[in-house]
Amino acid sequence: MRPLKVCIGIILLFSLLASCSQDEKRYRIGVSQCSDDIWRDKQNSELQIGAYFHDNVDLCFAAAYDSDERQIQQIDSLVETGIDLLIVAPNQVSTISPAIDRAYDKGIPVIVFERKTNTKKYTAYMGADNYEMGHLMGEYVATRLHEHGRIIEVMGLKGSSPAIERHNGFREAIAQHPGIQVIATLQGDWTEPTAYNKVKQWLDKNKGEKIDLVFGMNDRTAMGARKAFEEAGGALPLFCGIDGLPGENGGIRLVQDSLLDASYIYPTHGDQLLQLAVDILEGKPYEKETKLMSALVTQDNARVLLMESEEIMRQSHNLEQLHEKANKYLDQLGNQRMLTFVALAAMFLLLALLVGIYMYYLQRARIQDERTKMEREQLDFYTQVSHELRTPLTLIQGPLDQLLRTNDFRTASDNARELFTIVRRNTHHLTGLVNKMLDAQVGGTITDVNAHVETQNLASPESAGNVKPDEDAPTVLIVDDNADIRTYLRSILQGKYRVLEAEDGKSGLDMAREHVPDLIVSDVMMPVMNGLEFCQQVKKDGISSHIPVILLTARALEKHQIEGYESGADAYITKPFSPELLLARIDNLLQSRHQLKDLWTMKPAAETVAVTSTAAAVAATNPIEDAFISQFKSIVEERLADSYLSVEDLATAMGLSRVQLYRKVKALTGSSPVDLLRKARLAQAQRLLQESTLSVSEIAYQVGFASPSYFTKCYKDEFGTVPGEARKS
Ligand code: FRU
Repeated sequence: MRPLKVCIGIILLFSLLASCSQDEKRYRIGVSQCSDDIWRDKQNSELQIGAYFHDNVDLCFAAAYDSDERQIQQIDSLVETGIDLLIVAPNQVSTISPAIDRAYDKGIPVIVFERKTNTKKYTAYMGADNYEMGHLMGEYVATRLHEHGRIIEVMGLKGSSPAIERHNGFREAIAQHPGIQVIATLQGDWTEPTAYNKVKQWLDKNKGEKIDLVFGMNDRTAMGARKAFEEAGGALPLFCGIDGLPGENGGIRLVQDSLLDASYIYPTHGDQLLQLAVDILEGKPYEKETKLMSALVTQDNARVLLMESEEIMRQSHNLEQLHEKANKYLDQLGNQRMLTFVALAAMFLLLALLVGIYMYYLQRARIQDERTKMEREQLDFYTQVSHELRTPLTLIQGPLDQLLRTNDFRTASDNARELFTIVRRNTHHLTGLVNKMLDAQVGGTITDVNAHVETQNLASPESAGNVKPDEDAPTVLIVDDNADIRTYLRSILQGKYRVLEAEDGKSGLDMAREHVPDLIVSDVMMPVMNGLEFCQQVKKDGISSHIPVILLTARALEKHQIEGYESGADAYITKPFSPELLLARIDNLLQSRHQLKDLWTMKPAAETVAVTSTAAAVAATNPIEDAFISQFKSIVEERLADSYLSVEDLATAMGLSRVQLYRKVKALTGSSPVDLLRKARLAQAQRLLQESTLSVSEIAYQVGFASPSYFTKCYKDEFGTVPGEARKS
């Protein structure tokens, strides 16, 4: 089953390849945001867009809603679920540090961004300079108020680094401008409601106080303060914030719409942050501290910035949509790949199955072949053994039967007769046993055509043993490699037939061609050329084809007999055989041949056609004979007028020897070639007498008679009338 193994191997390889492409190292990045607001949303979506450029990055977001505990818990659980890198914006400077330390100590790289922490356990930091931002805003405020004015500062969440740094920067800048007075510093927490409440409370307490500008540490805080001032009524101060976000409610639009006087773009740069994370994960060089640059948004540049930022947002939106589409296509591609893979796997399985089935049948056929071969060998062996046994049995049984019929035996004592009878009975018994043995071993059917011999009367007709046959007696050719059998057969046949012998098929064939016997008795199992082939050759050869063949053999199985008849044999007799049966069979075959030859008697011209066609019809059963007769007839008719035409001439024209022609023609027609030639001449003469005006003498010469008087004699012998009679009629 080697092909099956190969197919399984290929399938495994396929699955390995398929799994390999999916097993490319994936990175899981945890993003811990301290808050949830539009600034964070913007940054998160930028992070996501950044991740689109890296197939192997998964982002995992968590928002703590400005709660230290929640953020600590979220970081711990991110670490627990297994992240490769942590990005964290810590709610406050010191509170979140323990959780960051724990992640870092577990070997997880940490990027702190935008807000700072007091731990040194981080891999990189990215953010804008909040001090500078506060400072620039302080400078702006001083300029905006022309160095004179009263301001309120609303802080960000206490303890968060941007709040501390922005405050420091702002106050230090303001300190340079003595005309600017900070009337109040209110504690906010980056949210609008807190700023609103704090400012409202202050306004309630300080009614009538004139304020020129409120600096909220982010745009939401500034807008909360504005809401409180609006509610309180009276002249509104200027409001400044930080964040300068694009979009509907972003700081840029608020400045553009004059709701805020100025803002400061607090950069989000999520894509840049993601790239830093990937660089760290992939072991590429990276900056430990990255400072993000920023800019002030005022009435002067708000319009341009808004346009630009909206364009960027539009592009981002397009990018998102493109990504969604690409994702959809990738999904489809994945499905198609899967389908292709499944189809391929199914194909290979099918192929493996087919190969398996093919191999199975091949194997089965091979086993079957071997079994058949073994059975054949076994059968051949038993046939051989049986042959070995049957031949000597024939040579005991046959001569014994012959002996029992002689006069010597009839006068023998009762005791001797009894003893001979015992021998005879047991020989037959032994034959029966041999048949049974073959029956049991090969499961075939043994036909013993000689079985009736058992019941035969011992006093059967005396053998023709020593009587010499006459010259005209039919010739029988015996073909057998066993000399004893030949001798025995000769002893049976010689009283009635002239006997020829050959010791194998090949020499048998030569003799059959040379002597053209009237019948052949042949063994089957012989060296050089076996009896079956011999029989086929005899029947194929134009000279010998008409000769009846009796196969005399030990091969007693039905299928062997079928083989024998298929080779063209006319009879099949198994050993040991009864001499009577053999003689009867020979007689019968020769007899049936005589019936054929009556049809070949030449008749007067008018009948010739009809007879020829009848003869042709009979001979048509054997095309070789038919061809022979046709050829013979046409040669005779052609050369009829030649009075010197001899049998030798005819034989030469037929490509045969004189003997061959004689015996073949005699066997087929019962007449000799000379007789047939004379009959043909007389038939032609009769036709001429009736149809022409030639004289009798002229006709005699024309049909090949050398003397008219001899012609007249022969004519009278053949037709019973003299030629002149035919003329009259
Ligand atoms: C967003 C935010 C911004 C502010 C920043 C300070 O969560 O409150 O408005 O500028 O955080 O960290």
